[in-house]
Amino acid sequence: MKKTVLINERIKTFNKIINVPGDKSLSIRFVLIGSQAIGKSVAKNLLISEDVLSALNLIKKLGINYKLNKNYCEIYGKGFNGFNFKNNSIINAGNSGTLARLIVGLLINSKNTVILKGDKSLSKRDFSRIIKPMQMFGLNIKSNNSKLPLVIKGTEYSRPINYTESKGSAQVKSCILLAAMKTPGITKINSVASRDHTEKLFINLNLPIKIKKKNNFEYINLNGNKNFKGFNYNIPGDISSSSFFIVLTLLSKKSKILIKNVNVSKSRTGVIDILKIMNAKIYIKNKRIYKGENIADILVKSSNRLKAINCPAKMNSRAIDEFLLIFLVCSLAKGVSKFKNIGELRNKETDRLKFANNFLKKIGIKTKINKDNLKIYGNPNLKLNKTYEIKNFDKDHRACMVSIIAALVFGGKWKINDVDSINTSFPKFISILKKIGAKIH
Ligand code: S3P
Repeated sequence: MKKTVLINERIKTFNKIINVPGDKSLSIRFVLIGSQAIGKSVAKNLLISEDVLSALNLIKKLGINYKLNKNYCEIYGKGFNGFNFKNNSIINAGNSGTLARLIVGLLINSKNTVILKGDKSLSKRDFSRIIKPMQMFGLNIKSNNSKLPLVIKGTEYSRPINYTESKGSAQVKSCILLAAMKTPGITKINSVASRDHTEKLFINLNLPIKIKKKNNFEYINLNGNKNFKGFNYNIPGDISSSSFFIVLTLLSKKSKILIKNVNVSKSRTGVIDILKIMNAKIYIKNKRIYKGENIADILVKSSNRLKAINCPAKMNSRAIDEFLLIFLVCSLAKGVSKFKNIGELRNKETDRLKFANNFLKKIGIKTKINKDNLKIYGNPNLKLNKTYEIKNFDKDHRACMVSIIAALVFGGKWKINDVDSINTSFPKFISILKKIGAKIH
């Protein structure tokens, strides 16, 4: 993929049906959980992107084989003690926070020492959030001031823990769940609600998990050390990838899109709920359930009466990856939008709160940041005709894709750098945009 793109014109009216690639969270979980099954697991529609390829390379380095082709991916798991690697092996999670956090849970009983590394952006991110609970399980783990590289050695005697997860981080919750899965006894997690794909997979594998949900909190008990056999999984489309097309359509003139076969489970659809409150025309069609996940087609129509939102903080973790897009919509909405306690955005591939603030200022939108709160003063008449360059975003794939959407709906002349970052989550992004009619050079 080219490293820089130029966009000099808005997208014209469109009416299309598209599919987006498989869900990234589910693809990474399939690879990691499949590596612990006894026997072969098979996924259809696995996302083929750099983050998922990093997950496949990583389990291979730990001694688990796989086969990947266009139609399916097979993982040949060998049970909880199946990892087999030389002492001081180096594993690399690339750009993926999800992979880096979740793999640590699976290393709870590793006999040899393993060193976990990542790319430049991942090496700036915080790992104290998982180091603490993992040490409570008995894992030996050293870090570079809570950052990568981590030096990890498992324990024969991991013990179940009681843990309160207060960030609403599914990565932390899942890391704990994976360690608990391999630890005899009952681990208890009290967690601010976050995406629950790991729990749903465990239920499908008949693992002894109990979950109660109350007031945006989840109370989870998992009785560990119960083996499971290989499994099949048809991975649905990714709502986070769909969201770029949802917002593109909302902000384009007289356009319409139908996005087929998307995971619209509640823990992921904060973006739809928030945009609907803002008067967006989004309709969920053809609803069905697959292995506990809600799947549907999403119909979106151009929406020109958008109004500002005072976003309830309890929606934050359900929209965590979509805030940059939501902020774009706010910049055209009537009134002042308000977001509270969105500090977790600072801990992503780049500081997304800082990026959003700089970006909105660049396109002439007034904002106010106060600690972890953001106000956006919308301008329904916003039209751009200057030249804009987007760079210095730590190669954050979502910052890059959101800039491309902005260029296509707001007008002006844009140069967007580090476009290869998109390969981490959505390599087909630009080709789908071109099919809809976008002129991207
Ligand atoms: C993910 C959880 C979220 C999200 C990330 C994927 C997951 O991170 O931002 O892109 O698959 O569990 P946090 O749980 O740390 O907020």
